[in-house]
Amino acid sequence: MRVVITGGAGFIGKRLARQILQRGSLTNAAGEEKPVTAITLFDVMEATGFGDAAIVDTVSGDIADAAQVAAVIGRDAESIFHLAAIVSAHAEEDYDLGMRINLDGTRNVIEAARAMPAPPKVVFASSVAVYGGTNLPRTVTDETPITPQTSYGVAKACGEQLLNDASRKGFLDARSLRLPTICVRTGKPNRAASTWASSMIREPLCGVDMEVPVSPESGMALMSPRRVVDAFITAHEVAASELGDWRTLLLSGFTATAAEMQEAVVRNRGNRKLGEIRFNPDPKTQAIVNGWPSGTKGARAEALGIHTDASIDEIVRHFIEDDLDNQIKGNF
Ligand SMILES: NC(=O)c1ccc[n+]([C@@H]2O[C@H](COP(=O)([O-])OP(=O)(O)OC[C@H]3O[C@@H](n4cnc5c(N)ncnc54)[C@H](O)[C@@H]3O)[C@@H](O)[C@H]2O)c1
Repeated sequence: MRVVITGGAGFIGKRLARQILQRGSLTNAAGEEKPVTAITLFDVMEATGFGDAAIVDTVSGDIADAAQVAAVIGRDAESIFHLAAIVSAHAEEDYDLGMRINLDGTRNVIEAARAMPAPPKVVFASSVAVYGGTNLPRTVTDETPITPQTSYGVAKACGEQLLNDASRKGFLDARSLRLPTICVRTGKPNRAASTWASSMIREPLCGVDMEVPVSPESGMALMSPRRVVDAFITAHEVAASELGDWRTLLLSGFTATAAEMQEAVVRNRGNRKLGEIRFNPDPKTQAIVNGWPSGTKGARAEALGIHTDASIDEIVRHFIEDDLDNQIKGNF
């Protein structure tokens, strides 16, 4: 079975590829469990760190180019994990680029799947950015209406609907996951308005000072990379009959305030010399964060066996174990 991961050089895409390699098999849309014989990582960037994995193949290309997407999916990809995107603040700054990558890219995946002899499974990385606005409850649920307040959120909401429709039509078998903020992100801060949550854990543990652009009481729904990768695999494996005619799952996050994140860093520092954390709220970032739900409760996903982290300490410890101590290949 051949698997394609779009955005396969990214933070989540690379970890997902590692997990699929380790697992060795997946269930296709026909319900047959098959050994994974090839994993194609499709991205504008080169995916590094897979030199030891003979079945991993990296392909450079643009998700917004229909011909390239059709070529990489080909006629034989049985599973497509569609993660290629540009993040919230970047898509907000550049409307045209955001729509090309985040909306047209998803349409290209659907068209490529539609041209295949048998419908593939497609797992799509959506976002809690599909929620927004002043009337939002503090904790969003499966029943909360989608009211995105960014172009990024709109493109993700459209992607969910298009994939739902394509599943109804029998072109493919989709599952869309609404991700909360994945934390702790490795590498450099990205252009997501939520990037401070990862930075305020990662930087101090690496001995670097960090200025937090929100108030200590600002809360955010978080999920660790380990849990989100498990969520992608579990959602992939669920039978279509269990999803019915609505293919979208909201993932439950663990809610922590910035002050609680700081406390967890201090509690779990071991003998590291921490960088200093200073709070210096930036009105623009604070306004964006205030417009987001601080909690996500996805009962449907939980009933399918998709769970969140137990505590903010667990999220910090996973980062220390997976990234700081063991330096999983290519993560940092
Ligand atoms: N990380 C989070 O907190 C979070 C939260 C909600 C949703 N998501 C979604 O999950 C997915 C993965 O997120 P991530 O954190 O790994 O992001 P990431 O930015 O690390 O990875 C996205 C990848 O997409 C690639 N990409 C960008 N433009 C492309 C193009 N034109 N063609 C092909 N590839 C392109 C990038 O090079 C990058 O490697 C994204 O769709 C994102 O919107 C992430």
